[in-house]
Amino acid sequence: MKVDVLLGLQWGDEGKGKIVDVLTPQYNVIARFQGGPNAGHTLEFNNIKHVLHTIPSGIFREGQINIIGNGVVIDPIIFKKEIDKLKTINVDISKQLLISKKAHLILPSHRILDAASEAAKGKTKIGSTLKGIGPTYMDKTGRNGLRIGDILSVDFKEKYNALLQKHQELLKMYNYEYKLEEFEAGWFEGIEEIKKYRIIDSEHYLNQLLTEGKTVLAEGAQGTLLDVDFGSYPYVTSSNTITAGACTGLGVAPNRIGKVLGVFKAYCTRVGSGPFPTELHCDTGELIRKKGNEFGSTTGRPRRCGWLDLPALNYAIMLNGVTSLIMMKADVLSGFDKIKVATGYKLDSGETINYLPYDLETVTGVVFEELDGWSENDLKEVKCKNCLPGSLKKYIAFIEEKTKVPVSIISLGPNRNQTIML
Ligand code: GDP
Ligand code: IMO
Ligand code: MG
Repeated sequence: MKVDVLLGLQWGDEGKGKIVDVLTPQYNVIARFQGGPNAGHTLEFNNIKHVLHTIPSGIFREGQINIIGNGVVIDPIIFKKEIDKLKTINVDISKQLLISKKAHLILPSHRILDAASEAAKGKTKIGSTLKGIGPTYMDKTGRNGLRIGDILSVDFKEKYNALLQKHQELLKMYNYEYKLEEFEAGWFEGIEEIKKYRIIDSEHYLNQLLTEGKTVLAEGAQGTLLDVDFGSYPYVTSSNTITAGACTGLGVAPNRIGKVLGVFKAYCTRVGSGPFPTELHCDTGELIRKKGNEFGSTTGRPRRCGWLDLPALNYAIMLNGVTSLIMMKADVLSGFDKIKVATGYKLDSGETINYLPYDLETVTGVVFEELDGWSENDLKEVKCKNCLPGSLKKYIAFIEEKTKVPVSIISLGPNRNQTIML
């Protein structure tokens, strides 16, 4: 069998968690392949709202295996908090959750380095979630990192101290005040918690399952425009968020990738710094934020809001090989007379283009097309495609025509059951 991949096509928070939860019954295995607790994936069902950071979003369905892949970075403190929170609602995942030996560990000092680096950047800060993501991936590629497999070795504490010492030397450069002790005890408690789960060679395990005919859904974190190679660099995260990241983050070969499900909002949001061509700095942006409850699932920061951006969406579709689109939060756009969609950019050179330029900061204006909105307010109750407002059907057809990719699912509310399969 092949691995299907579900990932975000914008700047993250597209609604990936909700859709993974909806699709989980169709798969045997759900596997996270990159990112770490910078992610916040929200699921809602039976009056429960749950935000997951490290644990895959398939965890609420019984019977499926959930894997934290080698491409993920894990903070034991946050991991334990997530587990403890699940226990309060009587969800025991000890039999369902498996962790790759090759996933890297976020140390308390990685988080401090993240904060020190952002403070030093001043106005040019990335707007990081400050979870230690950048410094941890730097240690991974710099060949200094600690991996989950290391926690089983007898000299783990020495390895930890050696890396900590390197970080302390680096921190001198920043002249940044910090307290490490208050995090360390919780961190080692988290390490003990991780040891209660099955720590495996997940690349062998996954490939074996595929050979046996099992189905796998790879769950992306962040979004394509935050990819370290192709996003709006340097305002990006530190991992490959695109389909290729599922290959390296799980150890599956490119010819084992099956469907690629690209999740996008009916508009755009971004949290953190960096260019955002269709951003609305007016009341309309404020209204979308309010109606869409656009506040970060991980940091609570208000998300910047703007219209759908087709050049950016098409770029994401190209990079990921998207085979079908999943449109989220169309309910939030209810009530707008007109809805705008970006189809091109005006550059500071005077040129107008319909693709993503090397540097998004050179975009000085946006070419929009305007479509009719829909006034029906209670889309959350709509249960079938034919019952959708005519203008929303036209909006979907317009996107399909401009992207040449079918929209296969539309989501009209945060709840599991507010989902229409087209
Ligand atoms: P993720 O990081 O991609 O999993 O997305 P987040 O969970 O960070 O953000 C998506 C937010 O939108 C969450 O608060 C969801 O509960 C909510 N949400 C998801 N789908 C819909 C939808 O179709 N309509 C509305 N109104 N909210 C949604
Ligand atoms: P999910 O999986 C939205 C953003 C941060 C910042 C930049 C770098 O929930 O969609 P980092 O902490 O990685 O150093 O931050 O990336 N960012 C996200 N934005 N959703 C996310 O994850 C994000 N993860 C990181 O706001 O701009
Ligand atoms: Mg999120």
